[in-house]
Amino acid sequence: MESLSCLWLLLLPLLRLSAITTAEPCELDDEDVRCACNFTDPQPDWSSALQCVSALQVEIRGGGRSLEEFLSRVDPEADPRQYLDVIRALRVRRLTLGAARVPAPLLAGALRVLGFSRLKELTLEDLEVTGTAPPGLLGATGPELTTLSLRNVSWASRGTWLAELQQWLKPGLKVLNIAQAHSLAFSCDQVRIFSALTTLDLSDNPALGERGLLSALCPHKFPALQSLALRNAGMQTPAGVCAALASAGVQPSHLDLSHNPLRATANPASSECVWPAKLSSLNLSSAGLKQVPKGLPAKLRVLDLSCNQLNRAPLPEELPTVGNLSLHGNPFLAPGAFEPQEDSENSGVVLACAHSSLAVGMSGTLALLQGARRFA
Ligand SMILES: *[C@@H]1O[C@H](CO)[C@@H](O)[C@H](O)[C@H]1NC(C)=O
Ligand SMILES: *[C@@H]1O[C@H](CO)[C@@H](O)[C@H](O)[C@H]1NC(C)=O
Ligand SMILES: *[C@@H]1O[C@H](CO)[C@@H](O)[C@H](O)[C@H]1NC(C)=O
Ligand SMILES: *[C@@H]1O[C@H](CO)[C@@H](O)[C@H](O)[C@H]1NC(C)=O
Repeated sequence: MESLSCLWLLLLPLLRLSAITTAEPCELDDEDVRCACNFTDPQPDWSSALQCVSALQVEIRGGGRSLEEFLSRVDPEADPRQYLDVIRALRVRRLTLGAARVPAPLLAGALRVLGFSRLKELTLEDLEVTGTAPPGLLGATGPELTTLSLRNVSWASRGTWLAELQQWLKPGLKVLNIAQAHSLAFSCDQVRIFSALTTLDLSDNPALGERGLLSALCPHKFPALQSLALRNAGMQTPAGVCAALASAGVQPSHLDLSHNPLRATANPASSECVWPAKLSSLNLSSAGLKQVPKGLPAKLRVLDLSCNQLNRAPLPEELPTVGNLSLHGNPFLAPGAFEPQEDSENSGVVLACAHSSLAVGMSGTLALLQGARRFA
């Protein structure tokens, strides 16, 4: 069922919904590459989206409106295959859907129709997904994505949303980005194995913390993981992160802990943690560190300690054996550079560090305000 509803925004013109022409909500660039629609008008001209049929990258924003009404307007019995020619004619590889309140059956249906397209990258942004999809819609019929990115998406189905979303996609996802999440406490028994997933980015979830990380990293569901990014994710100590990785059986070779308020010393319980043997690159940039943290891996190819508050050069015994060490942007290299009026040659670098960490800190604060209570 719900097959017609699947056509959702991109194909709404086909449903011949009443259209009142106002300022063009959609813009297609001259190269037919990028098409962006922003349906902010109270009575939007949905048919404007037709011009996006030829674009490779399509962005559709719904002006924050609720799409519940479409559930009653579309014919749930229609077979999506009758639109196959249209869907196959879509050139879209990268699609962004944002700023709307979407019933889960509509989203599931849209993904089912997009299963006939060549879509590779999907981004959902500022969406509120209401209700749950009827079980009949499930079954890996959606697109075969390489990259799925979510930012500020809330789900009525709380802890089961990842498992639900996963069932709407064909397997093979390589990159999963989840920022400003409302819930990362997954019901892991329902999540299937992400057998091809190499990159997991949980950055910009400042209320996550190491305990939250434990429930977000469903044990043994990410066997192919190579890169884990946890920028601005409320991590406190490298050793605490190590403990979470160990209990989840996650073995990344790249770990990004930059832009976290890290402490140098761990509590004794977690300091004995054994790091993944494959870990070769660790990013501790912009983490407010006054000294090199204890309990780092013994050997690394790359260690980034740039943009911290190290007041003296680290002693060799404080550092792992490391091939490529970054220390720029620390006060010991440019004394006084943190003072605002400083005009020395090196201050550009240092101030750039200070600015970038401030910028992330501020976007993080917004997310924190929004997310803090939900993680509690
Ligand atoms: C969409 O339009 C609204 C209202 O004009 C505006 O605030 C918003 O920034 C626009 N979004 C994009 C992505 O252009
Ligand atoms: C998050 O998305 C909701 C809509 O679901 C929107 O109202 C809110 O402004 C967004 N928050 C941020 C920080 O963008
Ligand atoms: C570490 O992270 C910072 C900020 O997130 C980034 O600018 C830098 O390139 C990263 N370093 C490495 C070695 O990837
Ligand atoms: C060290 O790592 C940085 C960031 O990844 C890279 O730009 C630089 O070329 C590396 N240096 C060496 C000597 O490998």
